[in-house]
Amino acid sequence: MAAISASGVGLSWRSKLSQRPSSSSSSSYGSSRSSHRRVSSTIKMTVSVEKKNFTLQKSEEIFNAAKDLMPGGVNSPVRAFKSVGGQPIVIDSVKGSHMWDVDGNEYIDYVGSWGPAIIGHADDEVLAALAETMKKGTSFGAPCVLENVLAEMVISAVPSIEMVRFVNSGTEACMGVLRLARAFTGRQKIIKFEGCYHGHADPFLVKAGSGVATLGLPDSPGVPKAATSDTLTSPYNDLQTVKDLFETHKGEIAAVILEPVVGNSGFIAPKPEFLNALRQITKENGALLIFDEVMTGFRLSYGGAQEYFGITPDLTTLGKIIGGGLPVGAYGGRREIMEMVAPAGPMYQAGTLSGNPLAMTAGIHTLKRLKEPGCYQYLDRITGELIQGILDVGKRAGHEMCGGYINGMFGFFFTGGPVYSFEDAKKSDTAKFARFYRGMLEEGVYFAPSQFEAGFTSLAHTSEDIQWTIAAAEKVFRKI
Ligand SMILES: Cc1ncc(COP(=O)(O)O)c(C=O)c1O
Repeated sequence: MAAISASGVGLSWRSKLSQRPSSSSSSSYGSSRSSHRRVSSTIKMTVSVEKKNFTLQKSEEIFNAAKDLMPGGVNSPVRAFKSVGGQPIVIDSVKGSHMWDVDGNEYIDYVGSWGPAIIGHADDEVLAALAETMKKGTSFGAPCVLENVLAEMVISAVPSIEMVRFVNSGTEACMGVLRLARAFTGRQKIIKFEGCYHGHADPFLVKAGSGVATLGLPDSPGVPKAATSDTLTSPYNDLQTVKDLFETHKGEIAAVILEPVVGNSGFIAPKPEFLNALRQITKENGALLIFDEVMTGFRLSYGGAQEYFGITPDLTTLGKIIGGGLPVGAYGGRREIMEMVAPAGPMYQAGTLSGNPLAMTAGIHTLKRLKEPGCYQYLDRITGELIQGILDVGKRAGHEMCGGYINGMFGFFFTGGPVYSFEDAKKSDTAKFARFYRGMLEEGVYFAPSQFEAGFTSLAHTSEDIQWTIAAAEKVFRKI
């Protein structure tokens, strides 16, 4: 086990092991805040590292067996570590901001199950609520009051949402919202942005960012031409191209859909005027504006990116956080649009497990926690420390880097930047990222295994986690 000490911050790897799931103490926001010590982002660190015994023998055995059983050994492509090399770690358990693999290695986790774990993994209150709900069954396939509770929470939080439909994944939410936009406007074409991912439904698998980019697949075979022939694309942050598309396809465009802050090309923020201009252009052209907030919803602020930037779209998709770690998705928007959804209206969309009591329960208790004052300020503080610290030590070690963050979402690239689009992001030195990635893994830090994925912090991340990560990064930056 490595022992890192940073001046002013006592770090002991062993102390983190006490947070293992079997322990009764969970990393709650309150407790991590009370033990939190502010450390300047330009940190002077003394790093003393005893080489820890890092082996992945069991992970390798399990993953090798998995490759015979499931395509690529995984159930979602980026998990296979293709772009960073080596074999993926097989996870045994998670708690708070930490994960443990089957070989007993401990990691500080900045993936958070790809976003849902914003209050920390396996939160005691969420687990207790789930246990209570489970006593009554896991799925009813019929109305239950928990749907009303979560729907009210979502509607009161997200400015654009007056009515909501729960589904089971972000992909489903985006499929549903697209059908709805087409049904409402009576138009077929949509504009999406290069590097934005809206799930794996056919019409969206055009220049779709992380997973597809990571694997180097231009488009997926099996997607019929007809399914994407109405999908128009523009570089992110490029208003002129959007205007040109509206000019060329006058009266034909149903909607513009985007990640209001991109996470699927790495972290890319919108230019200041971008979202506002899209709001204007769509309004002027009778098209709908759709924010895909599957990632940013309840992460950038309680009301999502739309609250953070003060721009209200017509429709919004959600997922990840609103299911608190259980499978979920949702789409919602103005009442007059949502009333087109069956059975209120003619646009068909359905789901066997939609609104199931377990997902609703985990969502309700996650949102309850996020509503407590100070959550997003805390995320802002620790994420700022993290990204500033990583950039400081990276640049000091001679690497060209840029990066950014908004509250609980961050990213960095191995290029001087600025990064405003997927084309810019692709200038990053991905081979260097892969070396950095594997080095950090050995140091006990788990980032998303792709340069083109945003990272996530949670209320369970402590300042000690952050300082540990920066110290580990400083060590790895010197070697790569
Ligand atoms: C912005 C965005 N939309 C849609 C999706 C698809 O969600 P899911 O993986 O739950 O199908 C994702 C997944 O990461 C996403 O980030």
